[in-house]
Formats: sequence, C-alpha cells, structure tokens
Amino acid sequence: MTSRDGPLQSWYDIHEALRNELPRLRAMAGEASVDDAEGLQALSDEVVFFADVLMVHSLSEDGVGFPIMRNRGIEVSPELTQDHHRELMLMYDIRRACLELRYHDDGQDVADALARVRRLLEEAEADLLAHIEAEDGDVIPRAAAALSHDDQMDLVIKMVAHTPAWLGPRLLPWMIANISRDHRVQLLKAWRDAMPPALFETRARVIRDGTEAALWNDLVSEVPDLARLT
Ligand SMILES: [Fe+2]
Ligand SMILES: [Fe+2]
Repeated sequence: MTSRDGPLQSWYDIHEALRNELPRLRAMAGEASVDDAEGLQALSDEVVFFADVLMVHSLSEDGVGFPIMRNRGIEVSPELTQDHHRELMLMYDIRRACLELRYHDDGQDVADALARVRRLLEEAEADLLAHIEAEDGDVIPRAAAALSHDDQMDLVIKMVAHTPAWLGPRLLPWMIANISRDHRVQLLKAWRDAMPPALFETRARVIRDGTEAALWNDLVSEVPDLARLT
C-alpha cells in the first residue's frame, strides 16, 4: 500500500486535477483569438476559476495542513510557502491580464493582454509542476508515514473544511472530471467506505449535479451505491 491508497488520496487528487488543468488552459489561451469576444470571456472565466481553486488549495496547506504536520514534528520546508506566494502573484497578474481582455468589447486592442496571459500561464505551469512534484514526492509521503490512519483522515477533513461555500459546488465536480478514471473510482469507493452515509450522499450529489451524464453514468457503473442517490 502506498500513501496514495490511504486517507491522503484526495490530496494527490487535487494535485492531479491542478496539473491537468494548466496544459488545457495553455492550449485554450493559445487558440484564443483577439477577435473572439466569447472565446476570450470563456478563457477568462476558466482562468479565474483555476486561480480561485489554487488560492484555496494553497491556503489549505499553509494555513491548515502544514501547521498540523509541524505540530506533530513533521518537517515542512518554508520554501513551499514561498512557492505559493510566487504562484499566487503569477495568478494575480494572469487575472489582471484576463480583465483587460474584456475591454475587447470597447474596441480596444487586447493582443498584448492575450500575449501576457499565454506567457504567464506557461510560467505558472512550470512553477506549479515542480511545486506539486515536491509535495507529492516528499511532503505527503512523510505525513502518511508519520500519522496514523485516523490522524491522516482528520488532516484531510480539516484541510477541505474551510473551502468557501461558493466554490465547493463547482470544485468537486471539476476535480472528479480532471483526474484519471481509476483515481476517481478509487476516491468515490474510499469515501463510500469511510464517510457517514449522509455525508457521502451529500458529496456524491454535488458531483452528480455538476458532472456530465456520460461521466456520471460511468462512475455509477463502478460504484453502484451511487445509483441509489435521490
Ligand atoms: Fe502547495
Ligand atoms: Fe498542494
């Protein structure tokens, strides 16, 4: 059993979803045209959502996960916090450029803003991939090795508990859609087996309501308990 098979699985899963999203956003920005107002709006919306998810995720580590680990004597490098600061400033600049894209409606030339979105997304991708690799390869395995099964569960519950209510309904379906089929099936089965039924059903409903039918039906075929949801 690796640390991926334990209670910390969802920590790996959010990383997998973040990793997968950046190349998609980069491709979207690459294909966007300065004359396509709808496409620019869609790009801006997706980038802003990603930035919100990254902010909430980084805070869950810096404000919850890392302090709990340090209190238990598990070393967590302060460099990870410096990474978060740098990445969030990058996302700030990307969001700023995204807002400028909207001035397309006023007939303004947004070519420079779009070029900045493209360049900064590339920069953010390289930065974030190295950062996530350090967390997946070092921080999470050390938490898994040092904490009991119940303490790992407690850590994850506390880390996700502060997710803002306005972000939750979109975040969970987004994460499920952006991880591999094996990992999403594994996660739903782990939740089914570990959570009180009412909590499992609440989470499953959030996923169902924000997920395309084909993906949801595929999930139900692997986790038949989901078919009983009302
Ligand atoms: Fe992080
Ligand atoms: Fe992380």
